[in-house]
Amino acid sequence: MVLEKFSLANQVAIVTGGGQGLGKVFCHAFAEAGADIVVAEINPETGPTTAAEIEAMGRRALFIPTDVRDKASIQAMVDRTMAEFGKIDILMNNAGIVQHLEAEKVTEAGWRDVIDVNLTGLFFCCQAVGRQMIAQRSGCIINIASMSGLIVNFPQCQASYNASKAAVIQLTKSLAAEWAPYNIRVNAIAPGYMGTDMAKPFFDDPEYGGVWIRAIPMKRPGKPEELGPAAVFLASDASSYVTGTTLVIDGGYTIW
Ligand SMILES: NC(=O)c1ccc[n+]([C@@H]2O[C@H](COP(=O)([O-])OP(=O)(O)OC[C@H]3O[C@@H](n4cnc5c(N)ncnc54)[C@H](O)[C@@H]3O)[C@@H](O)[C@H]2O)c1
Repeated sequence: MVLEKFSLANQVAIVTGGGQGLGKVFCHAFAEAGADIVVAEINPETGPTTAAEIEAMGRRALFIPTDVRDKASIQAMVDRTMAEFGKIDILMNNAGIVQHLEAEKVTEAGWRDVIDVNLTGLFFCCQAVGRQMIAQRSGCIINIASMSGLIVNFPQCQASYNASKAAVIQLTKSLAAEWAPYNIRVNAIAPGYMGTDMAKPFFDDPEYGGVWIRAIPMKRPGKPEELGPAAVFLASDASSYVTGTTLVIDGGYTIW
């Protein structure tokens, strides 16, 4: 039956940055599809809340404090996941940060912050979990890129973010090619403007919000929940022949 292909029953999923925003949505979506969840989150306030919500749904959930900028922290998270759950089926690399600043004003620290979280941290999560998936001969990795990896947003300047997300798209293809022989699929999602709590002030700001909405053919921000089903598709057997792709979910922004 076709809907059974979307089931994540008995799967174990790690979601980085699962404490809030889109990461929390991915935790809920995977859990609704049947998975147990590791919330790998730097924020000690939000991570446990998401984990408690997942437990309330009847799934196993564990908050593991994780800083994706720190390889030791990533490895400790993977080791703890293996100790508690015995396997890792899904890695959702969602943690990310943005800096809006003209390129000529970007400092070395600011540049490195964005690249460290969005690209280097994501790679070392892929590597640490990928080693485990190679040993298992199965697994599924989803990297959260952005439409900013494909186009240049306006009016805000965010060169470091755009560069990091373009790199995530190419890294996704590279890992998909390298790890296909191990039965590991690696895909990306490139969201457009999503109406998260963090984004709402920008949409309410006439300087940004009006410009953004005019540039979206569907004339509205995406609802965070609109990414959940796509994530379940890429995490499940429903996408068993899909690897190395970037699924753009942007209300049509990148058409124009
Ligand atoms: N919101 C959007 O419109 C949008 C659009 C395209 C792509 N994205 C991407 O989606 C992802 C989630 O975005 P969001 O809007 O939910 O952002 P958010 O700021 O609401 O959430 C990001 C989460 O990542 C966590 N995090 C940050 N640094 C971390 C670190 N070093 N280690 C572990 N966790 C860390 C934060 O604590 C937070 O829980 C990001 O990769 C972002 O670039 C967002």
